[in-house]
Amino acid sequence: MSVFPKGFLWGGAIAANQAEGAWQTDGKGPSISDVTPHGLGGEIDKKPIPGKYYPNHEAIDFYHRYQGDLQYMQEMGFNCFRTSIAWSRIFPDGEEAEPNEAGLKYYDDLFTTMHKLGMEPVVTISHYETPLALHDKYGGWTDRHLIDLYEKYCRVLFTRYGKTVHYWMTFNEMNNTHTIPFAAAAIDVTGDVDHKTQQMYQAEHNMYVANAKAVRLAKQLMPDAHMGIMLSLSQAAVYPATPAPKDVFGAMQLQRRTFISADVQLRGEYPGYAKRIFKEHHFELEMGPDDLQLIHDYPSEYLGFSYYRSSTYADGTPIYGDTGGVVGRPNPYLKSTDWGWQIDPLGLRWICNLVQDRYNCPMFIVENGLGMKDTVNADGNIHDPERADYLKQHVQAIGEAIKDGCNIIGYTWWGPIDIVSAGTGQMSKRYGFVYVDRDDEGHGTLARSKKDSFETYKQIIASNGECV
Ligand code: BG6
Repeated sequence: MSVFPKGFLWGGAIAANQAEGAWQTDGKGPSISDVTPHGLGGEIDKKPIPGKYYPNHEAIDFYHRYQGDLQYMQEMGFNCFRTSIAWSRIFPDGEEAEPNEAGLKYYDDLFTTMHKLGMEPVVTISHYETPLALHDKYGGWTDRHLIDLYEKYCRVLFTRYGKTVHYWMTFNEMNNTHTIPFAAAAIDVTGDVDHKTQQMYQAEHNMYVANAKAVRLAKQLMPDAHMGIMLSLSQAAVYPATPAPKDVFGAMQLQRRTFISADVQLRGEYPGYAKRIFKEHHFELEMGPDDLQLIHDYPSEYLGFSYYRSSTYADGTPIYGDTGGVVGRPNPYLKSTDWGWQIDPLGLRWICNLVQDRYNCPMFIVENGLGMKDTVNADGNIHDPERADYLKQHVQAIGEAIKDGCNIIGYTWWGPIDIVSAGTGQMSKRYGFVYVDRDDEGHGTLARSKKDSFETYKQIIASNGECV
């Protein structure tokens, strides 16, 4: 008997900007991801420069090819599929009086197709793709104007898709503002540490208010919907490098830095430790008179999260981060990917238990995966045992967490079809069970083909997680 509950959601996850391409099709406006030639870890242009290569502009052309792509997902047995809605397809400049009908129609068709193929859509409302115009005009999420604009965007989505989409997440990895500030919030990251920190917490605060307003709106417009947050919890899997109290305490503080977003949005109030952080960085949050009440009254229902790796903290080690989480000291007990991400399935079980103990709410693992180079052999086959092993080990860890008593409702592998890397803009950092013929310079036919790991995931899903 499988330990995974009946009805467990098995699937995969992508983001509009990393897959759809068609960056100007059917009235879409540019988003911040359309000016990131080398991904969010690299330099970002102010405007798209004519003639320059931007990987997300065409991406894998999911916009025109989703029917075929979703059939591969159906063949693997997916009963859910996570994607995001590109805000700038709906409001190209973020501020139009009326939404763009062609953009809305595209997602109508996409979600209907998913249902026809037996997949529940799981939708991220904002995934690193804030309309560029809002970044230019307001500087992004540090400005409260975005709260109302986001609420207006949500109203359009909930009215239009309330009957077809039942699982929502308001923001992708908003707790990434401290490692990749531009990605999560499109904020101004220049200036000294205090200024930067203030900007990040202010942007996050504005997003907490936007999240609460979205939850309130969902209760009115689609009472049966599940409203979740989405955080990077690789950032919470932080081990102390030694038993030295400074290392242990420092690791805990770093972990808390990650959990602030969940504390506020699931428990409905700022934790005490946040006040000390603000004080030490010499600032007070700018708040509207109803903000705290809204946050208190409209908490989120479930915690969606990504988990790719763990990290190790030692007092004095500089901490930086990328899309995979925070990076500290190398951990001698773990192997790393070619991109230096340390593979740690037990870390996932640990995180699930931490979430269970801390919030006692449903959790949804909406991103987990291995980015690696693939080789297409002369016969066209792609052997990727490392990816299959990573998958099996992490599914096993989830099974153990379920046995530990964790309330896990689903698992969506990141990038079940190769897509553009958010962090680096590369195609060669591949996660897919389905290969896409495209390289880092944008060459290739975009043809799709199965890798060996396709069969592994198919068997795992068919056995409801038992055959690992
Ligand atoms: C997550 C993001 O942090 O990590 C995704 O939500 C991203 O957008 C994923 O693609 C993997 O990171 P990367 O940099 O390998 O694409």
